[in-house]
Amino acid sequence: MSTPLDSDEIRSARLATPGVAAVTHLNHAGSSLPSNQVLATQVNHLEREATIGGYEAARERSEDDARVYESIGRLIGAEPINIARVEHATAAWNAGFWSVPMQSGQRIVTARAAYGANAIGFLRAVEQRGVVVDVVPDDEHGQVDLEALADRLDHDVALVALTHVPTNGGLVNPAEAVGALTRRAGVPFLLDACQSVGQLDLDVARLGCDLLSATGRKYLRGPRGTGFLYASPSIVDRLVPAQPDHHGADWTSASTYALADGARRFEYWEYNHAAWLGLGVAVNEALALGLSRIEATVIERAEQLRDALTAAGFRVMDLGQRRCGIVTVDLPDARATQARLGAEGINASVTSASSTRYDAEARDLGDLLRLSVHYLTTTSEVESAVDALARLSAAR
Ligand SMILES: Cc1ncc(COP(=O)(O)O)c(C=O)c1O
Repeated sequence: MSTPLDSDEIRSARLATPGVAAVTHLNHAGSSLPSNQVLATQVNHLEREATIGGYEAARERSEDDARVYESIGRLIGAEPINIARVEHATAAWNAGFWSVPMQSGQRIVTARAAYGANAIGFLRAVEQRGVVVDVVPDDEHGQVDLEALADRLDHDVALVALTHVPTNGGLVNPAEAVGALTRRAGVPFLLDACQSVGQLDLDVARLGCDLLSATGRKYLRGPRGTGFLYASPSIVDRLVPAQPDHHGADWTSASTYALADGARRFEYWEYNHAAWLGLGVAVNEALALGLSRIEATVIERAEQLRDALTAAGFRVMDLGQRRCGIVTVDLPDARATQARLGAEGINASVTSASSTRYDAEARDLGDLLRLSVHYLTTTSEVESAVDALARLSAAR
């Protein structure tokens, strides 16, 4: 484990982040606070678009635009050609998922942490393709049971789809171990890294995934409406996007088309250039700090929060042997508490059963208050949030 960022590094990151002066932001897993530089990059580009025209402004920044793929490649250990630019994690996940060949009767193997949007995709595939969804139970730590998953791989499996960090709770699913199993079995592995990218040190070779979906606005601290899909060189040539356009594919004759190389086949022509450039800046800022040091900082702060909540008598609902920056608390009135915290300038969020139904039904969960820290979060913010929660609970 690397050394966490020191207080000077955290102070200078906070000085470069306008939002931290206005709010105690414990909703980094919802949408984090961007830096001045990420904000300025977008505003400048929007101004150029308004001043000289959108296509002309894009031409001015075409090299910077291409560098965003390189930065994301460095972030996850991939070649730029294996990265597709998309608007958000669900768009990335759907692009990957619907390109994987599936035959009627084959299984999609997943785990209890599956995100709601992905589960809806599974259900559509059941209707449309006649596949079967097989939800692997958790082990005693609350993470996917690797032995049970290995047993499933003896069957006819079209895809293993795992959520790395679920919407609720500190769990980090053992994605590397899952990747080792799927590699051995020769089954495609789609990893939802929406909530792990930017807070954990990810490397696609180590993870062993064929497809990885991610968003920009969460732990990467990028703009809203940004994301990316990674598709590995070993699988991408066999994948056909469900709905390619004439950027993802070349219209070669009236009756033929040729898919673009690598993951670019999953892209559409139009996108928010300002936001994509802003994402590039956010990724570079994360790389400059170092993902392993960001991870160590986030984990340290989240453990402080869990300890303080437990000491104050709250029930922390997090699972897993390895935990991350997302902390969930069981309260009788999570939504009302979120609103009251908000009125005091403390941003939190609420996770509901419909975002994570396999887990919610297995554990009989209702709404949970979710507090998510980042490396920007200070110990005093953690303390004041727990004090506020204790005060609000006592007043109930
Ligand atoms: C685990 C997980 N996957 C996917 C998503 C969807 O991400 P996006 O809103 O960027 O599509 C979320 C959103 O919260 C999530 O928590």
